[in-house]
Amino acid sequence: MNRLPLIFFGVFLTFAFSWLGLVVYPYFELGRLQPAPDEDTGGYFPPTTTGLATAGQKVFSANGCLYCHSQQVRFAPLSTDIAKGLGLRQTVARDYLRAQPAFLGTMRTGPDLSNIGVRQPDPNWHHRHLYEPRSVTDWSIMPSFRFLYQMREIQGQPSDDAVSGLIGPHASPPGFEVVPSDDAKALVAYLVSLQRNYPLPESPLPPVK
Ligand code: HEC
Repeated sequence: MNRLPLIFFGVFLTFAFSWLGLVVYPYFELGRLQPAPDEDTGGYFPPTTTGLATAGQKVFSANGCLYCHSQQVRFAPLSTDIAKGLGLRQTVARDYLRAQPAFLGTMRTGPDLSNIGVRQPDPNWHHRHLYEPRSVTDWSIMPSFRFLYQMREIQGQPSDDAVSGLIGPHASPPGFEVVPSDDAKALVAYLVSLQRNYPLPESPLPPVK
């Protein structure tokens, strides 16, 4: 008996069902998602990334931050993300609606950054950490992004942008200062903008205790 048509049909069905399940069904479920209106302000959630933070997104991408940092807070009963304070609520598809690209990430060598702008709103903290992670967390294995900074001699008054709080072996020698490049400033603006502290209909914020 010639079984070729049967095998062909079986293979066809396997691919057809995968396509329906992985492409068509998600498209109908999520393809027409819209930002959710914010009744208090007349705005929309998720908010758009604007200004310097938009440029910072590109620096984040170009420097491979994604290899070690995810941006997804997982479902509470199946993870300890919320208990650990990584986020206030579970991340859902709508959170990525305005993200270009969406940095979901899979690896967590470092903590999830979905909500880092709430955990660490201080730009100088981020500059100090990017310049030398071990000046903030002494056991850190995060690489230093020192090449995004310039150490230069202070001309007259110290610069307003100079990174403060670098101590011990990481401090600049007397008469010198560490200043962020435009890329470093944009990256930090992006990190501080990562604040998923708004509610969505399918993922509301927990009640305030
Ligand atoms: C090789 C892995 C690795 C890479 C690449 C990496 N990080 Fe990290 N990151 C870590 C680890 C580990 C920690 C936790 C220790 C610490 O705070 O330094 C961390 C911590 C952080 C924190 C503090 C998080 C918190 O909850 O306190 C921020 C912000 C951060 N990284 C941003 C970045 C950015 C931005 C980039 C890209 C420019 C980057 N990281 C690249 C491993 C990495």
